[in-house]
Amino acid sequence: MYNLIFMGPPGAGKGTQSQLISEKFSIPQISTGDILRANVRDKTELGQEAKGYMDSGALVPDELVVSMVAGRLTEADCSKGCILDGFPRNVSQAGALEDTLAELNKSIDIVVGIEVEDAEVVRRLSGRRVCRECGATYHTSFNKPSNADTCDKCSGELYQRDDDKEETIEARLKVYRDETLPLVEYYKGKKLFKGVAGVGSVDDITGAIVSAIEECCDNT
Ligand code: AP5
Ligand code: MG
Ligand code: ZN
Repeated sequence: MYNLIFMGPPGAGKGTQSQLISEKFSIPQISTGDILRANVRDKTELGQEAKGYMDSGALVPDELVVSMVAGRLTEADCSKGCILDGFPRNVSQAGALEDTLAELNKSIDIVVGIEVEDAEVVRRLSGRRVCRECGATYHTSFNKPSNADTCDKCSGELYQRDDDKEETIEARLKVYRDETLPLVEYYKGKKLFKGVAGVGSVDDITGAIVSAIEECCDNT
């Protein structure tokens, strides 16, 4: 069983890598950003509360996100582990996650920090396209779909996220530095953190993440 956390700045490749590792280890990807966007799209109560925060690049309040993840972790497909993509995002969420996992007799195996510079983040997010149907992620230059407007996997329509505008990207980077980066030291203190360079080919980065997971989890 692998319970993994993928962290990193906006655009680091958390979603891209989570999808690949999810297929490789047959464990679900739990992306708080994707779940929140689905709630915004469906105009649920949670979505209506979350939208303003997401549009400005701020974090959605902890109590909303924590209960959403706690509920998701009790679902049957998490019995063999999961990948948390974009959660926790501050020390308070990390504490809440530990409590939830302890109640389920689980714990985190490794926190993979995908490391990418700010200028590269801006290049990646300004060209990102996402499938409306299956969530697959593309880039207009770095990871082109065969046809500009449709998903290679499911033929769904590709769109640009509302928060991928340059001003919002800057705000998200600041929120990452101020609120999420302290988690690196937090998880280093628990000997769970493993940094992986997030630049280079998607496949090479996946290889480095798989090695990190196998190394850490074989030693425990
Ligand atoms: P979220 O959806 O998690 O956004 P994020 O953290 O800003 O990260 P992204 O999804 O933008 O990037 P990614 O790292 O997944 O990169 P990707 O693989 O797509 O959160 C959105 C909002 O929701 C937050 O701002 C907040 O409001 C709210 N939220 C979410 N979680 C929350 C929480 N826990 N608490 C409170 N609020 C929360 O890749 C990016 C692009 O780069 C793609 O185009 C891709 O094709 C390309 N790419 C990927 N890898 C490479 C590579 N190796 N080389 C070149 N290009 C690459
Ligand atoms: Mg993502
Ligand atoms: Zn698709």
